[in-house]
Amino acid sequence: MNVLISGADRGLGFGLTKLLLEKGHTVFAGQYLKQWNELEQLKENYGSRLYLIDLDVGSEVSVREARTAVEAVTDHLDMLISNAGINGKLDGEVTMESNFEYMMRTYNINSLGAVRLVEIFYQMMKGSDTKRMCFVSSEAGSIAQAWREDNFSYCMSKAALNMYVKLIYNRLKPEGYSFRLYHPGWIRSYMSGKLSERGNLSIEEAADYAANYFLDESVDESELILFGYDGEKFQF
Ligand SMILES: NC(=O)c1ccc[n+]([C@@H]2O[C@H](COP(=O)([O-])OP(=O)(O)OC[C@H]3O[C@@H](n4cnc5c(N)ncnc54)[C@H](OP(=O)(O)O)[C@@H]3O)[C@@H](O)[C@H]2O)c1
Repeated sequence: MNVLISGADRGLGFGLTKLLLEKGHTVFAGQYLKQWNELEQLKENYGSRLYLIDLDVGSEVSVREARTAVEAVTDHLDMLISNAGINGKLDGEVTMESNFEYMMRTYNINSLGAVRLVEIFYQMMKGSDTKRMCFVSSEAGSIAQAWREDNFSYCMSKAALNMYVKLIYNRLKPEGYSFRLYHPGWIRSYMSGKLSERGNLSIEEAADYAANYFLDESVDESELILFGYDGEKFQF
């Protein structure tokens, strides 16, 4: 399959990229962090099936340029993985002194980033038999199960993402598109800016769970659910 993934430099996106290459897929890996070289290293083993694509999901221009770069290689994508995300948490939120500029940035990346990807790439999926759109969301975006009292921007941005996925599910499912809305668990990733020592899952474990769900052909798609890595079905 031809797979495009955003935020592939490190964390879950990198883990998924590596795993999908190992499974024999062709990966268009969205590169955002030029100074990070893990993707470059993967090219040594998977050069013929790994394409590094400049991709900032916060910029429409960048996503359009990414489409041009993908179209130079293939006429179709089978799977789109919207993975890029930022933490959105600032200390000030705990005292209800939100940084509105940062909140806008979080919404721009975590919510609108997925919208840009879908709107600019979904036509490239028309020629595919799979047409699968996968969205890395979070239980933090569940309104029905919300328990936090802060981290407003992250929780709100993921709730908005969940709503968007529900709307395009309603719209594009009848056209044969397939959907996965996913909570990947608490990962020891780079969300804080450096590799975290806290979390339930290593990047490799989280990628394994996510890849299994994204590639699973037996998922019941008659209803859209926010599916957790451990099988929990979140209300959203
Ligand atoms: N970690 C967790 O426990 C957890 C829990 C629930 C959900 N998630 C979700 O899982 C997804 C992956 O997160 P992760 O834990 O793997 O975090 P991560 O290690 O920080 O990886 C996210 C990647 O996306 C990149 N990125 C940031 N802004 C971008 C942009 N505008 N365009 C393209 N890429 C961009 C990041 O670059 P920078 O490093 O420069 O920011 C980073 O390479 C996110 O959507 C996150 O919300 C994570």
